Amino acid sequence: MTDQSNPGQLIDRFGRTVDYLRISITDRCDFRCVYCMAEEMAFLPRAQILTLEEIYTLAKAFAELGVKKIRVTGGEPLVRKGALSLLENIGRIESLNELVITTNGSQLETMAASLKAAGVKRINISLDTLDADNFKAITRTGDLRQVLRGIHTAISVGFERIKINAVILKDRNHKEVNDLVQFAVDHRIDISFIEEMPLGIVSRHDRSEAYYSSAMIKSDLARNFSLVATPEKTGGPSNYFNVVGTETRVGFISPHSENFCGTCNRVRLTVEGRLLLCLGNEHSVDLKRVLRANPGNMAILKQAIVDAMLIKPEKHEFNIHEQAVILRYMNMTGG
Ligand code: GTP
Ligand code: 5AD
Ligand code: SF4
Repeated sequence: MTDQSNPGQLIDRFGRTVDYLRISITDRCDFRCVYCMAEEMAFLPRAQILTLEEIYTLAKAFAELGVKKIRVTGGEPLVRKGALSLLENIGRIESLNELVITTNGSQLETMAASLKAAGVKRINISLDTLDADNFKAITRTGDLRQVLRGIHTAISVGFERIKINAVILKDRNHKEVNDLVQFAVDHRIDISFIEEMPLGIVSRHDRSEAYYSSAMIKSDLARNFSLVATPEKTGGPSNYFNVVGTETRVGFISPHSENFCGTCNRVRLTVEGRLLLCLGNEHSVDLKRVLRANPGNMAILKQAIVDAMLIKPEKHEFNIHEQAVILRYMNMTGG
């Protein structure tokens, strides 16, 4: 299919074109990161989540409406049975330019080669620390060595780009930002630092006390590295800097300190089939209901998606000084 037969039809009230869909294919995860989940989480029953066929139908509908980039996320997407065949199917949608995933890395040692074969071009891997004990403390259940083996396998498989995502929290891992960039430089991969967002009630820390801004990270990095701003974008919210003398780019995702809503090009499909128009608001449309009430009717589904653009909010309403404005947890939304 050419671009002409597939023009962007998803335009919101503020003139922003939506061409990036993030799909959370499971709320389950083998980790319990402190900023993402509560220690005891109840996961959704199977009947409540989209089937793999339903996810594929939705991906196709969005692609027909002009979406060019799909990112598959979780929870941990690779723990869902059938994730690979879903990725293969989505990878075959011709009008898509990019199929990418965000993963915690735990399954990459065994799955990286199949992901590449399925057509996944880039992967983002969460890694907040290089200290095994701290990794255990942040993820509660994760094993750093397993993730590092996964990262090495992914590098050897040869994806177009690999990016590390690190959520930086004061007094938990803020002292490690230079080590994390050095790790990225040594492995010739990219890294983004993320300001924590207040989604769901997490018990372990006060989010306003844990706040560590991108500006503070930049000034910490200036001790060891020379960063030069680059206009390069990946369609995501990171602002990138080249690390002089290396192949590594350092990105900053700064929802609090540098709002990027004005250029927002994305929407999210939750694991329950709710189309979420903004990560930091509750505006949504129940596409699972539309899909199940009109089996096989692509026209109705596509119209519901086009109509949903009318309620895309202008910007997020995050406030780190208030406890959980948004009650939904990140694992249902996929970041
Ligand atoms: P690429 O740029 O394609 O590499 O991906 P990305 O940075 O968009 O995706 P990734 O899954 O790596 O997400 C990194 C972080 O960015 C996550 O914590 C997301 O929640 C955050 N993020 C992505 N889009 C938005 C957004 O629209 N609003 C906010 N506040 N955060 C976002
Ligand atoms: N704030 C910011 N980033 C988060 N992530 C998970 N929960 C949060 C949060 N509350 C990140 C993960 C992963 C990405 C998909 O989202 O670390 O890198
Ligand atoms: Fe799992 Fe990712 Fe949430 Fe950590 S941030 S618990 S790896 S879904």
